[in-house]
Amino acid sequence: MQTMTIPDDAPENRWFHLCTEDDLAGPNAFVTTRVGAVPLVAQNIKGRVVAFRNVCTHRFAVIHGEPAGCGPLRCPYHGWSFDADGVPVGLPFNPTDFQLEAEGRRRLALHPASLARCGRLVFVRVAAGGPSLEEELGAALFARLAALSDAFPRRGDAMEPEDGWERIEATNLRLHLAPDQALVLHSAAPPGAGQRFSRTVTFHPATADAELPA
Ligand code: FES
Repeated sequence: MQTMTIPDDAPENRWFHLCTEDDLAGPNAFVTTRVGAVPLVAQNIKGRVVAFRNVCTHRFAVIHGEPAGCGPLRCPYHGWSFDADGVPVGLPFNPTDFQLEAEGRRRLALHPASLARCGRLVFVRVAAGGPSLEEELGAALFARLAALSDAFPRRGDAMEPEDGWERIEATNLRLHLAPDQALVLHSAAPPGAGQRFSRTVTFHPATADAELPA
């Protein structure tokens, strides 16, 4: 059988910013996106935040249709639900319809995706292996993003970037920094994803006198 090689610079091999940690902090919180033709989901399952292809392994339905929300990782089609390892654990009518034992269910685990954090920022990649997020961004940019995301943890009213604000770009992420005041974080939809997968959030320091990175 022929295998198709994906070029190193293909979108499937690149990291894309998805959301911040607080988007995935609650039980069953999830955030989705697409990269090329591949739907992805990051989900909190019993406190573990994991990423998979957002495609059911039974008949390939998309599991979560919304860009973000809160609900178990359960396929809407025949109701299979998946654990934090991607293994289907809840199969309605299994004894009559599917007859899957433990090994058969393990073989039908969801395809894993990569998930990485930079400070409070969460990134995903289709490919399960490859360079780390820090390697792709470079150590200096990685450290700056981590420090900024930690320094501006509080969501606030939307602000429009103004002339004179510092602008930082990394992968699909564009940050506008108003010193001591706000960090506007815009994540463009990855290639192949619709605009509904783009996100813009404004963050503020934790307190008025919080120490901020240079
Ligand atoms: S397609 Fe997902 S449970 Fe059947």
